[in-house]
Amino acid sequence: MKTDSATNSRYGRVALVGAGPGDPELITLKGARLLREAEVVIYDNLVDERLLDLAAPDAERVFVGKMTSMHTLPQEEISTLLVSRALAGKFVVRLKGGDPFVFARGGEEMAALLAAGIAVEIVPGVTAAMGAAASFGFPLTHRDLAQSCVFVTGHLQDNSVDLNWPALAQTNQTIVIYMGITGLETISAGLQAAGLAGDTPAALIYRATWPAEKIYPCSLATLPETAHKYAVKPPALIVIGQVLTMISAGT
Ligand SMILES: C[S@@+](CC[C@H](N)C(=O)[O-])C[C@H]1O[C@@H](n2cnc3c(N)ncnc32)[C@H](O)[C@@H]1O
Repeated sequence: MKTDSATNSRYGRVALVGAGPGDPELITLKGARLLREAEVVIYDNLVDERLLDLAAPDAERVFVGKMTSMHTLPQEEISTLLVSRALAGKFVVRLKGGDPFVFARGGEEMAALLAAGIAVEIVPGVTAAMGAAASFGFPLTHRDLAQSCVFVTGHLQDNSVDLNWPALAQTNQTIVIYMGITGLETISAGLQAAGLAGDTPAALIYRATWPAEKIYPCSLATLPETAHKYAVKPPALIVIGQVLTMISAGT
């Protein structure tokens, strides 16, 4: 998407680029081209540093890393930084892990830039759920096993988990929960109380597509104890649904 109708051509511009889930080869050709053209690259901690090598040696590189409860720069300051570099006439690439519009606050950054009259381009990326499905060989949808797939966040600003349990607790649906590791007890109990069987296949997936990637298959009921047993830490996804019965042998 390109938005430049109401923008000021004297300013620089910003591209919000999805870096993909980890493996640097999963960035799009367009994302890689824009990185090569960038004068400023603003990136966070779920981005493989090898992608930064695509940028020109003299491009400014700014790390604004973000982890749950461990923000290096508050979101407002990241938006302010993007606006100020663009106002200075620079071409800025904001490189974000996965897709910029999936649990990435890309919407807020886009709104701040447009409000300042700066042209914004959005370049999609492979979101973590897709990377995990590809790495471990299970489909997110399957005509016999899951007719829908939902991406939800397991982390609210106040650290609570408040999901629509009845809407999620559907047998023919794949649930992918981002940022849910700290709320596993609530998630497992909430889905079971809403009617999803405790023996529904589930998995914890750590750092999909990175060299350290790991999958911990379990059931909905045993999610909390599995995370505890293997000390699973973020970044990790929780996947729940019958599609997990198709996990490739050998993983
Ligand atoms: C702030 S969200 C960013 C999501 C990202 N925009 C995307 O589209 O994948 C960060 C969360 O995404 C999930 N995540 C991101 N990359 C991951 C990966 N390679 N493997 C597993 N989970 C990942 C984790 O739940 C992590 O806590």
